[in-house]
Formats: sequence, structure tokens, C-alpha cells
Amino acid sequence: MACTTCKGFYVGMVLGIVMISSMVASCSANFFQDTEITWGGDRGKIFNGGQLLSLSLDKFSGSGFQTKKQFLFGRIDMDIKLVSGNSAGTVTTFYLSSQGPNHDEIDFEFLGNVSGDPYILHTNVFSQGKGNREQQFYLWFDPTRNFHRYSIVWKPQHIIFMVDDIPIRVFENEEAKGVPFPNKQAMRMYSSLWNADDWATRGGLVKTDWSNAPFTAYYRNFKATDLSLSSSKSFSDSQVQSNELDANGRRRVRWAQKYFMIYNYCTDLNRFPQGLPPECKRSRF
Ligand SMILES: *[C@@H]1O[C@H](CO)[C@@H](O)[C@H](O)[C@H]1NC(C)=O
Repeated sequence: MACTTCKGFYVGMVLGIVMISSMVASCSANFFQDTEITWGGDRGKIFNGGQLLSLSLDKFSGSGFQTKKQFLFGRIDMDIKLVSGNSAGTVTTFYLSSQGPNHDEIDFEFLGNVSGDPYILHTNVFSQGKGNREQQFYLWFDPTRNFHRYSIVWKPQHIIFMVDDIPIRVFENEEAKGVPFPNKQAMRMYSSLWNADDWATRGGLVKTDWSNAPFTAYYRNFKATDLSLSSSKSFSDSQVQSNELDANGRRRVRWAQKYFMIYNYCTDLNRFPQGLPPECKRSRF
């Protein structure tokens, strides 16, 4: 459902798997058709016939956009070029969320920094209104120089966070251990650029320098792939695999976590004096 530009999808289904996989693979969404700018007025802009989108932030407001459709399980890919130069105090978000008081949410947030100092990539998972599952990373490249791909794979058995197709975090479905997992509420993709200089950069020590405004982030190659139980049957083996973790994938998660992870709630004993959350106990990651 997610690739609304793929008109032939259901017709293709009767023609067999090869045809469908090629259609899904080549299907990149259109920002005009598939998303809407919901915040910040003309600070959010769509260019190039729907292929490029920019968000900006000034003293008066940030901006944001979201997908028109919701889905229950899916893979979202987005190429983002973050605010360059002195981005201290700014936060760029890219996340999935349901609505309502006990909402589910799967977050990427990019915390800006002064020129030359590293962004922090902040991740979190909320299920049924409860988050507190932060992991933070430095990136192994300058995310302001080029576009890089950020992906969320949301399946009934796990959530995988990926950067340039490298899995950096896996949140397994451990309902069997009593850990709520987001699998009942449909979600939309949201993205925003806003000012959070009370906490974002060095814990709020560095404030936004408004003489650099407006701050701008760019988006392209947005792709939403439906992985709901009914449609995932139609994916080719290679597509199913790229949404799973094989031995190589697990090695890459360990690499990212060993060299780039700077905060992990699962090792923060001070924060959980009553004991670490149950999903941390035997987690391989
Ligand atoms: C900004 O740079 C400082 C100094 O290198 C670093 O401690 C911090 O983690 C960086 N990122 C953010 C978002 O504060």
C-alpha cells in the first residue's frame, strides 16, 4: 500500500513474484502525493516534481511533514542531508508514530552540534505509551556533507534501525518476557526540524546561534514498503532477507555498537536502580 505511485501493484500480484519484486524495488514515493507538510507553513518545501523536500527552522518556527497513509508493519527508507555548519541546538527527527494516549513510536533524532563537532544520532522505541529505551550513536561520516540513508524496518518479530543499510540497533519482540511490542497500532512516518537548545547539544549547554538561521535539512528517495502480514508474502527472498538479520547483519550491529554507540539505556544502572528493563537481560545487543 505504501508505494502509492505503484499503480500496478495488485494487478502485478497475479503475474508472479518476479514482477512484483521488481516493481516494489523501483518504487520511490513522491513527496507531493504521499506526504503533507503539516507544520511551519512555507518553511517546508517540495521541489523537483516531488523528488526533493526541505524543512527549515528560524527564530519563529520549525517545520514538519508526515505521510498521508498509515500502515501496520513496514520498511521506511529516507535519504537525509542534515543541517550543516553550526547546527547546535537544532533537532531533526525522522520517526514512525501511532496516535492517542498509549501510542507506539520508533524514533531517529539527530542532535545538531557546533561546526566540526559530531551530531548525535538518538534512537528510541515506545510501546503503549512507554519509551525510556534510548540508544545514542556517533556517525562514521559527516551527515551534513551528503545524503545518507536512514531506515526503519518494523516487523512483527523485530524492529531494525539502519544507517546506509548497516543495521545499528535491533529491538526484538519479547512479548513472551512481558515486554510490550508495537504491533497493534498503525503508524505514520513523521519528520520535523525544530529548536531544542534546552537539551540537544551537550545536554543544553550550547544554545542555537540564530545568526545562522534559517537552518535547513533536505530529504529525498523516500520509500515506504508495506510489510503487513498479508503483503509480505509477495516479497522476493532477497527483500525478505534484507529485513532480517543474518550472521553478517548481527556482526554489523556489533561493529556499530562497539565503535559508535555512546549511550545505551541497557547499561545505565544508575537510571534503573530497581533493575534493568527485562528486554536488557539477555539481549545480545
Ligand atoms: C557535540 O560535541 C561535543 C564535543 O565534542 C560532544 O561531547 C557531543 O557529544 C556532541 N554532540 C552533541 C549533540 O552534543
